[in-house]
Amino acid sequence: MARRGHSAWLPLVAVLLLAAAEAATPPPSARPGVSPPGRSFRRCSSLPVLGASVYWTYHPGNGTADIAYRAPQSSGGWVAWGINSQSSGMVGSGVFIASQDGAGAVAALTTVLESYSPSLTNGSLGFDVPVPPAAEYVGGAYTIYATVALPMNSTVQSMVWQAGPGSTGAIGGHATSGQNVQSMQSLDFLSGETIGASNSTTP
Ligand SMILES: *[C@@H]1O[C@H](CO)[C@@H](O)[C@H](O)[C@H]1NC(C)=O
Ligand SMILES: *[C@@H]1O[C@H](CO)[C@@H](O)[C@H](O)[C@H]1NC(C)=O
Ligand SMILES: *[C@@H]1O[C@H](CO)[C@@H](O)[C@H](O)[C@H]1NC(C)=O
Ligand SMILES: *[C@@H]1O[C@H](CO)[C@@H](O)[C@H](O)[C@H]1NC(C)=O
Repeated sequence: MARRGHSAWLPLVAVLLLAAAEAATPPPSARPGVSPPGRSFRRCSSLPVLGASVYWTYHPGNGTADIAYRAPQSSGGWVAWGINSQSSGMVGSGVFIASQDGAGAVAALTTVLESYSPSLTNGSLGFDVPVPPAAEYVGGAYTIYATVALPMNSTVQSMVWQAGPGSTGAIGGHATSGQNVQSMQSLDFLSGETIGASNSTTP
């Protein structure tokens, strides 16, 4: 009788151990309820400014990451997300910019920000983009879908993100104070850790 009682506990213990193991490795937090519909990503992180979240799945076998960047914005405005593989901050970053034209068609462009007054030429980045990017505008937020080969096959990358005004497809300059100059952070695509203060005096 005592023996049977003891063994009956084993499955429960196993379940509790499993639950403890899962609780020990929670995914990085992102705002609940905003996960891009119809797509799934292994990890996500709420970024400290501009209300933005980044979702991703890292593939160690080929060094690529599938990424969704989501941020609230007015329909006439634009949002951007990218990687600076040279240093950090805006200049030198390869970015994806989502915006829409007067008819509401959402497009993503890829461009290297060569200065603080970038030309925004739609072209190739300083790293491979093996799948064409996509963007959508739903519920007051843009989502950019991008697949990138992480530069130098390093899981730690210097991220930048941004938001600004626009009209009928034109991308206007962003604010150069407050949250708009705090939008950079290093991200480890493997561990999900973010590294470094996001506040910076660099425009
Ligand atoms: C990278 O590897 C993943 C997982 O094996 C695969 O799904 C994806 O298509 C690969 N991407 C490229 C660009 O080869
Ligand atoms: C990237 O690095 C991973 C692990 O460090 C390695 O397994 C993989 O072969 C590398 N991929 C490329 C494309 O260099
Ligand atoms: C950028 O170029 C790509 C590929 O040529 C195209 O699909 C995309 O619509 C362009 N984006 C913009 C905003 O023009
Ligand atoms: C960044 O600045 C904001 C507002 O100025 C502040 O609340 C926040 O603590 C700062 N973060 C860091 C990492 O310094």
